[in-house]
Amino acid sequence: MAPPRYIVRTIGRDITIYVGDCLDVLQDMPPESVQCCITSPPYWGLRDYECAQQIGAEPSPDLYVENLRRVFAAVRRVLRADGTLWLNVGDAYARNGGTGRCGPNAKVANTRKLIQRRNCRVPDCWGLKDRDLMGLPWRVAFALQEDGWLLRSCVVWIKTAPMPESVRNRPSNATEFVFLFAKTQRYYYDNEAVREPTGANLRNYWMLGPDSERVNHPAPFPRELVRRCILLSTRCGDVVLDPFAGSGTTGIVARELKRSAVLVELNEDYVREAERRLSRQTQISLLR
Ligand SMILES: C[S@@+](CC[C@H](N)C(=O)[O-])C[C@H]1O[C@@H](n2cnc3c(N)ncnc32)[C@H](O)[C@@H]1O
Repeated sequence: MAPPRYIVRTIGRDITIYVGDCLDVLQDMPPESVQCCITSPPYWGLRDYECAQQIGAEPSPDLYVENLRRVFAAVRRVLRADGTLWLNVGDAYARNGGTGRCGPNAKVANTRKLIQRRNCRVPDCWGLKDRDLMGLPWRVAFALQEDGWLLRSCVVWIKTAPMPESVRNRPSNATEFVFLFAKTQRYYYDNEAVREPTGANLRNYWMLGPDSERVNHPAPFPRELVRRCILLSTRCGDVVLDPFAGSGTTGIVARELKRSAVLVELNEDYVREAERRLSRQTQISLLR
């Protein structure tokens, strides 16, 4: 008998974590079973998450876009007709030669192997030249539009404490994009759920710093980012999906806001971290 393609773990009645490749899991999920997907796939060519099926380790960025396209076609099938997708995608530079000590191609921690194998020559696509910014978030967004997604907003996430970069020939990066896609024209969006402090409609730039909690993951979401997406796009009791769940931030915030979550993560170490954070959250709520 073939070994199972993924493992399922449940934490309480509201959180399900699948350990495995998100494409395998998504293909087995019931259609139209999720209200909202909030996710951040790995950057292309930056970190090595040390699993064979990982996204982000493709030999060229056009294959990365194709892989994401496949994942989000599978997400689209499991979304309800009025469902939405909040997608955070990072950019990268085409490089030829050295990687430096800081910035998107830096040799740091567990990134080294992937960088050395994939990022030290200019990718052979899109007419890229050495040091070209690849525009990956928009290339992914355009591909998803072609696949039927309705692109409704590009939120600029302004990082109040960005990763330092030692560059002198361009401004340092301190922003990322979070796209809001809808499955259909009649999507659920509660504009009253999150407002500007003045009471005005929420703007599409969000100034957010990292959370103070120590998390065993190189790129956790700030909780506030997830909180806004959940409140704007779901009702109490709805199901939220994160197919690249990492340390489980989407699940933690979903539970705080009385939603259920389906999380998928390939790397067992990060699943353990998500479980640790979720059980700590349960203990804290029992003490209250
Ligand atoms: C940028 S991180 C997400 C971090 C997450 N937002 C958090 O708050 O911790 C992307 C995650 O996707 C996982 N991943 C990469 N390829 C995957 C795949 N094919 N299926 C499921 N997870 C995958 C990586 O192991 C990594 O933890």
